[in-house]
Amino acid sequence: MIKKKVLLTRIFPKLATQLLEDAGYEVIAWDQEQPMPYDEMIKVAQSCNALFCTLTDKIDVAFLNRCSHLNIITQFAVGYDNIAIAEATKLGIPIGYAPNAMNEATADIAFGLMIATARKMFFMNQKIKNGQWGSFDPVGHLGLELKGKKLGILGLGRIGMVMAKRCKGAYDMEILYHNRSSNEKAEKEFGAKRVDFDTLIAKSDVISVHCALTPETRGIFNKSVFDRMKSTALFINTARGGIHNEGDLIHAIQNGDIWGAGLDVTNPEPMKPDNPLLTMENVCVLPHIGSATITARNEMARMGATNIISFYEEGKVPYIVNPEAF
Ligand code: DGY
Repeated sequence: MIKKKVLLTRIFPKLATQLLEDAGYEVIAWDQEQPMPYDEMIKVAQSCNALFCTLTDKIDVAFLNRCSHLNIITQFAVGYDNIAIAEATKLGIPIGYAPNAMNEATADIAFGLMIATARKMFFMNQKIKNGQWGSFDPVGHLGLELKGKKLGILGLGRIGMVMAKRCKGAYDMEILYHNRSSNEKAEKEFGAKRVDFDTLIAKSDVISVHCALTPETRGIFNKSVFDRMKSTALFINTARGGIHNEGDLIHAIQNGDIWGAGLDVTNPEPMKPDNPLLTMENVCVLPHIGSATITARNEMARMGATNIISFYEEGKVPYIVNPEAF
C-alpha cells in the first residue's frame, strides 16, 4: 500500500512524527527554525496528502486553490485565523485544530503578565541588568495590588475560564465578561457577570483578552476604547495581536489613558526590538509563548496527529473547525 504523505511545516514536538510514522504515514518535515517560505510550502504540499501546519503559515485562498488536492489540514494551535476556513470548506477540506490543549498554559501566561505588569517586573529586572539597582527606594516604581479588583474578560471560553478561576482564587476578583452567549458555568462557579462591551471596558481594572481574531474583533482595542478604560486599568492580551491597535496602545499608555499592558501577542509578530512598548515601565511583553509548556505542546502534537490518523482510518476528524466540509 502506498503510504500517505504528511507535510509538517515546522519543527514540531517529536510526538507528532512518532505517532504518524507508527501509524504508517510518511512524514515530510521542514527542518529549519524559521517558518517554511510560502512558495516552498505550496511546492512541497503539492506532492503530499495532508498538511500539519501552524499559525505562522499563511493558508490563504490562493494556497488552498493550488493545493486543493489536500485531504486534510490540521492546525497546531487553537486559533486558526491564518487559514481561509470558508474556502477550505468550499473545497471540502476538513480543518483540524487543537482546542483545550493549552488552556492552563495560556491562562498562566495571562495571569503572570497581569501580576508582572501590575508590579513593573520586567522593567525592574531590566534596571538590574543595566546596573541601575541603586538602593531600596521607599517611593520608587510603586505598583498596583489586585485583591478584590474587577477582571473583565473579552471572550470567556476555555482559556478565559482558567484565567477567571486563577483570579477568583488568588485575589477574589469580581469577574465581568463579554461574550456573544452566556457562560452559565462561569456565572455559577465564579459569580461572573455578562455585560455589554462598553460596560466591560469602563468598569474593569484588568481587561484580559481571550477571544478569537475575527473581522469583528480585529483592532477592537483602539484609541476610542482605551480612552474609555480606567486610567488605572491593565490591558492583557494573550489571544492575538491583531485584536489591539499597537499605535493606539502606545499612545494610551504614554498619555496615561490606561496604566499598563501585558502582551504575549503583538502586531506584527515578531515585535521590532525598537518598539517603544519595550522600554515602558508598566509594560511586559513576551514572544507568543502562551502554549509553550511541554504538556501543552505535546498535547497539541497528539491532537494534530490524531486528526490525520482518524481522518484516514475512520473518516472523521475528532478536533475539527469545519465539520460542514464533509
Ligand atoms: C494558539 O493555540 O492559537 C496559540 O496562539 C499558540 O499555541
